[in-house]
Amino acid sequence: MAVELPIYLDNHATTRVDPRVVEAMAPYWSQDYGNAASHGHVLGWRAEEAVEQARESLAAALGAEPREIVFTSGATEANNLALLGAAEAAPAGRNHLVSVATEHPSVLDPCRALEARGFDVTILPVDADGRIEPEAVTASLRDSTRLVSVMAANNEIGVLQPVAEIGALCRERGVLFHTDAVQAFGKVPLDVDEADLLSISAHKIYGPKGVGALYVRARRPRVRLEPRLYGGGHERGLRSGTLPVPLIVGFARAAELCLAEREHEAVRLAGLRDRLLARLRESLDGVALNGDPRQRLPANLNLAFEGVDADQLLVELRGVALSTGSACSSATPAPSHVLTALGLPAARVRASVRMGLGRFTTREEVDVAADRLVACVEKLRSGVPRKAAPTPLPSAGSKS
Ligand SMILES: Cc1ncc(COP(=O)(O)O)c(C=O)c1O
Repeated sequence: MAVELPIYLDNHATTRVDPRVVEAMAPYWSQDYGNAASHGHVLGWRAEEAVEQARESLAAALGAEPREIVFTSGATEANNLALLGAAEAAPAGRNHLVSVATEHPSVLDPCRALEARGFDVTILPVDADGRIEPEAVTASLRDSTRLVSVMAANNEIGVLQPVAEIGALCRERGVLFHTDAVQAFGKVPLDVDEADLLSISAHKIYGPKGVGALYVRARRPRVRLEPRLYGGGHERGLRSGTLPVPLIVGFARAAELCLAEREHEAVRLAGLRDRLLARLRESLDGVALNGDPRQRLPANLNLAFEGVDADQLLVELRGVALSTGSACSSATPAPSHVLTALGLPAARVRASVRMGLGRFTTREEVDVAADRLVACVEKLRSGVPRKAAPTPLPSAGSKS
């Protein structure tokens, strides 16, 4: 079967919207386009009904109650609402927060912002595999700790954290537990019993960009947050702003599909991922896996190709879309804070690329991607261009 280029192996960055999600969203653009807060006419009622159905469906997917789901513009906003909102609503004397060095910037940056405002923040280190032990979290807790935030799965190395244990120990100590579950939701089992606050995003699960949600525990304990946005009092006053009805409908449909297909997909993707790694290692020496080999997402590989500059590899590797671990949050690309937190030498960090397989990845694509990677790594290592690429070059306009 012919493989179309580019081959997309960047599914941690975002995912293609599933056609079944597009179909579910379709009526809500120009047919049932009402504002879900318009209570005086049928278009408003239809929009509201669609939103409430989506809320129920997402709540069911998480094992939560519908009123515990707060729609946001994505997980960046959900993480900001969780951290800043919980910190600002903290009782007097509860001014300590705990998080982890490998968290997403949308968790680490609010932590820094709170620190600048006088909160005490502890950022815990991870081990060489990128994991954090629950005991390390316990040891960091103080009487003044308001909240602990630990991600369920990492977006660069796919490493899963023991969030159930960490959540349980936080509850014992009366400390709120937030988890950024963006990369884990729909991919590995997840239940809100583990958390008081939990962030998810639609575009990582084959849904649309621009919508996410924060689960906010309503009972035992009821979590109090200070809103970040004030206005019409939408989302029980926690997030004012007109709801993006088509996106919310798509989010719920995407979650339903992920959950229905999760177990089968996890096995398929782990098989493809192992095949990709095996093919690379058959042909190349010096291929090291970053992050825990077992406690990781089924579709993630983060590999260091010894002696290769990953940025150059991406330039060379036309036709395969993947990314380095670099965070380009400014004009100057910085080395990955995640790989650096694992204690990896700078040369290995520079030689590392992230690969994320997904729902639309095929075996043929994996094989072509492996061939291209082998060819490019060999070329960069030898400094000598190969005579022929193993597969046709991409058409103009393709990007890597
Ligand atoms: C772990 C993690 N948290 C948060 C985010 C931010 O999500 P969003 O793009 O919905 O703002 C991402 C997306 O890159 C992510 O991977």
